Amino acid sequence: MLRPTLTLVFLALVPCGCGGSEPTAAKPAAPAHDDAGAPAGGAPAAAAAEFHVEANDQMQYNLRQIEVKAGQKVKITLKNVGTIVKVAMGHNLVVLRKGVSLADFTPKVMPPAATIDNDYLPDAARKDVIAHTKLLGPGESDSVEFTAPGLPGELIYLCTFVGHAATMNGKIIVK
Ligand code: CO
Repeated sequence: MLRPTLTLVFLALVPCGCGGSEPTAAKPAAPAHDDAGAPAGGAPAAAAAEFHVEANDQMQYNLRQIEVKAGQKVKITLKNVGTIVKVAMGHNLVVLRKGVSLADFTPKVMPPAATIDNDYLPDAARKDVIAHTKLLGPGESDSVEFTAPGLPGELIYLCTFVGHAATMNGKIIVK
Protein backbone atom coordinates (compact mmCIF):
# COMPACT_ATOMS: atom_id res chain seq x y z
CA MET A 1 0.00 0.00 0.00
CA LEU A 2 2.70 2.45 0.98
CA ARG A 3 5.15 1.81 -1.78
CA PRO A 4 3.04 2.84 -4.73
CA THR A 5 2.09 5.99 -2.90
CA LEU A 6 5.69 6.92 -2.19
CA THR A 7 6.70 6.17 -5.72
CA LEU A 8 4.01 8.45 -6.98
CA VAL A 9 5.10 11.22 -4.64
CA PHE A 10 8.68 10.80 -5.74
CA LEU A 11 7.78 10.92 -9.38
CA ALA A 12 5.71 13.99 -8.75
CA LEU A 13 8.76 15.75 -7.31
CA VAL A 14 10.96 14.98 -10.27
CA PRO A 15 10.71 18.05 -12.48
CA CYS A 16 10.46 16.63 -15.94
CA GLY A 17 10.46 13.04 -16.99
CA CYS A 18 13.51 13.43 -19.18
CA GLY A 19 13.63 9.70 -19.65
CA GLY A 20 15.50 9.71 -16.33
CA SER A 21 16.09 6.05 -15.89
CA GLU A 22 19.49 6.72 -14.33
CA PRO A 23 19.22 9.31 -11.60
CA THR A 24 22.53 8.31 -10.04
CA ALA A 25 24.31 9.33 -13.20
CA ALA A 26 23.71 12.88 -12.04
CA LYS A 27 26.95 12.70 -10.05
CA PRO A 28 29.47 11.26 -12.46
CA ALA A 29 33.04 10.16 -11.99
CA ALA A 30 34.14 11.87 -8.80
CA PRO A 31 37.27 9.93 -7.93
CA ALA A 32 37.22 9.36 -4.19
CA HIS A 33 40.86 10.19 -3.72
CA ASP A 34 41.58 13.11 -5.96
CA ASP A 35 43.84 15.91 -4.81
CA ALA A 36 40.96 17.45 -2.93
CA GLY A 37 40.87 14.43 -0.67
CA ALA A 38 44.52 14.56 0.28
CA PRO A 39 44.58 15.86 3.86
CA ALA A 40 47.70 16.74 5.81
CA GLY A 41 51.10 15.67 4.63
CA GLY A 42 51.10 17.68 1.46
CA ALA A 43 52.37 14.78 -0.59
CA PRO A 44 52.43 15.88 -4.21
CA ALA A 45 51.20 13.93 -7.19
CA ALA A 46 52.78 10.50 -6.86
CA ALA A 47 51.33 8.31 -4.16
CA ALA A 48 53.75 6.39 -2.00
CA ALA A 49 53.78 2.62 -2.07
CA GLU A 50 52.72 1.70 1.45
CA PHE A 51 53.75 -1.27 3.52
CA HIS A 52 52.84 -2.35 7.04
CA VAL A 53 55.32 -4.37 9.04
CA GLU A 54 54.75 -5.91 12.45
CA ALA A 55 57.45 -6.65 15.00
CA ASN A 56 56.81 -9.11 17.82
CA ASP A 57 58.21 -10.45 21.08
CA GLN A 58 59.86 -13.34 19.22
CA MET A 59 62.21 -10.86 17.51
CA GLN A 60 60.55 -11.28 14.14
CA TYR A 61 59.22 -9.00 11.45
CA ASN A 62 56.17 -10.43 9.70
CA LEU A 63 57.40 -9.06 6.38
CA ARG A 64 60.94 -9.62 5.21
CA GLN A 65 60.72 -8.71 1.57
CA ILE A 66 59.25 -5.65 -0.02
CA GLU A 67 59.19 -4.79 -3.71
CA VAL A 68 59.13 -1.26 -5.03
CA LYS A 69 59.81 0.50 -8.30
CA ALA A 70 62.95 2.51 -8.90
CA GLY A 71 62.43 6.13 -7.90
CA GLN A 72 59.13 5.38 -6.20
CA LYS A 73 58.09 7.00 -2.96
CA VAL A 74 57.86 4.40 -0.22
CA LYS A 75 56.12 4.53 3.12
CA ILE A 76 56.68 1.81 5.70
CA THR A 77 54.78 1.69 8.95
CA LEU A 78 56.17 -0.47 11.72
CA LYS A 79 53.98 -1.63 14.58
CA ASN A 80 55.29 -3.34 17.67
CA VAL A 81 52.59 -5.94 18.35
CA GLY A 82 54.42 -7.42 21.34
CA THR A 83 53.81 -6.88 25.04
CA ILE A 84 57.32 -6.89 26.49
CA VAL A 85 58.60 -3.52 27.74
CA LYS A 86 60.65 -1.41 25.39
CA VAL A 87 63.89 -1.58 27.38
CA ALA A 88 63.86 -5.36 26.99
CA MET A 89 62.20 -5.83 23.57
CA GLY A 90 62.07 -2.54 21.70
CA HIS A 91 61.93 -2.59 17.91
CA ASN A 92 62.69 -0.20 15.10
CA LEU A 93 63.03 -0.43 11.36
CA VAL A 94 66.16 1.06 9.87
CA VAL A 95 66.63 1.22 6.08
CA LEU A 96 70.26 1.14 4.94
CA ARG A 97 71.75 2.97 2.02
CA LYS A 98 72.27 1.02 -1.15
CA GLY A 99 75.43 -1.05 -0.93
CA VAL A 100 75.53 -1.19 2.87
CA SER A 101 75.24 -4.79 4.04
CA LEU A 102 74.07 -6.17 7.33
CA ALA A 103 77.62 -7.31 8.05
CA ASP A 104 78.99 -3.82 7.37
CA PHE A 105 76.42 -2.13 9.48
CA THR A 106 75.69 -4.19 12.57
CA PRO A 107 79.07 -3.55 14.24
CA LYS A 108 78.19 0.15 14.20
CA VAL A 109 75.07 -0.37 16.25
CA MET A 110 76.63 -2.36 19.08
CA PRO A 111 76.94 -1.16 22.66
CA PRO A 112 78.45 0.86 24.13
CA ALA A 113 77.90 3.33 21.25
CA ALA A 114 74.33 2.14 20.78
CA THR A 115 72.07 2.71 23.75
CA ILE A 116 68.40 2.95 24.51
CA ASP A 117 68.88 6.72 24.66
CA ASN A 118 69.95 6.97 21.02
CA ASP A 119 67.39 4.35 19.91
CA TYR A 120 70.29 1.96 19.28
CA LEU A 121 71.32 4.16 16.41
CA PRO A 122 74.45 6.12 17.30
CA ASP A 123 75.41 9.15 15.23
CA ALA A 124 78.31 7.36 13.59
CA ALA A 125 75.92 4.80 12.12
CA ARG A 126 73.39 7.28 10.78
CA LYS A 127 75.31 8.14 7.65
CA ASP A 128 74.55 4.63 6.42
CA VAL A 129 70.84 5.09 6.96
CA ILE A 130 68.21 6.28 4.48
CA ALA A 131 65.34 6.32 6.94
CA HIS A 132 64.42 4.90 10.32
CA THR A 133 61.51 4.68 12.70
CA LYS A 134 61.72 5.44 16.37
CA LEU A 135 62.43 2.64 18.77
CA LEU A 136 58.97 1.34 19.64
CA GLY A 137 57.56 -0.13 22.81
CA PRO A 138 54.57 -2.49 22.90
CA GLY A 139 51.57 -1.25 20.92
CA GLU A 140 53.45 1.67 19.41
CA SER A 141 53.88 2.39 15.73
CA ASP A 142 55.83 4.80 13.57
CA SER A 143 56.25 5.40 9.84
CA VAL A 144 59.15 6.23 7.59
CA GLU A 145 59.03 7.68 4.12
CA PHE A 146 61.77 7.83 1.56
CA THR A 147 62.32 7.67 -2.17
CA ALA A 148 63.63 4.42 -3.56
CA PRO A 149 66.90 4.60 -5.49
CA GLY A 150 66.52 5.43 -9.15
CA LEU A 151 68.09 2.20 -10.33
CA PRO A 152 67.23 -1.43 -9.61
CA GLY A 153 68.95 -3.05 -6.66
CA GLU A 154 68.41 -3.99 -3.05
CA LEU A 155 68.25 -2.20 0.25
CA ILE A 156 68.50 -3.90 3.62
CA TYR A 157 66.36 -3.05 6.61
CA LEU A 158 66.81 -4.20 10.16
CA CYS A 159 66.00 -3.69 13.81
CA THR A 160 69.00 -2.25 15.60
CA PHE A 161 67.93 -3.16 19.14
CA VAL A 162 70.87 -5.04 20.54
CA GLY A 163 70.88 -8.64 19.40
CA HIS A 164 67.89 -8.35 17.06
CA ALA A 165 69.46 -7.86 13.63
CA ALA A 166 70.18 -11.55 13.12
CA THR A 167 66.48 -12.36 12.92
CA MET A 168 64.94 -8.94 12.37
CA ASN A 169 66.04 -7.98 8.90
CA GLY A 170 64.60 -7.82 5.43
CA LYS A 171 65.15 -6.67 1.88
CA ILE A 172 63.62 -3.98 -0.22
CA ILE A 173 63.88 -5.10 -3.81
CA VAL A 174 64.00 -2.11 -6.13
CA LYS A 175 62.82 -3.06 -9.62
CO1 CO B 1 63.72 -5.64 17.43
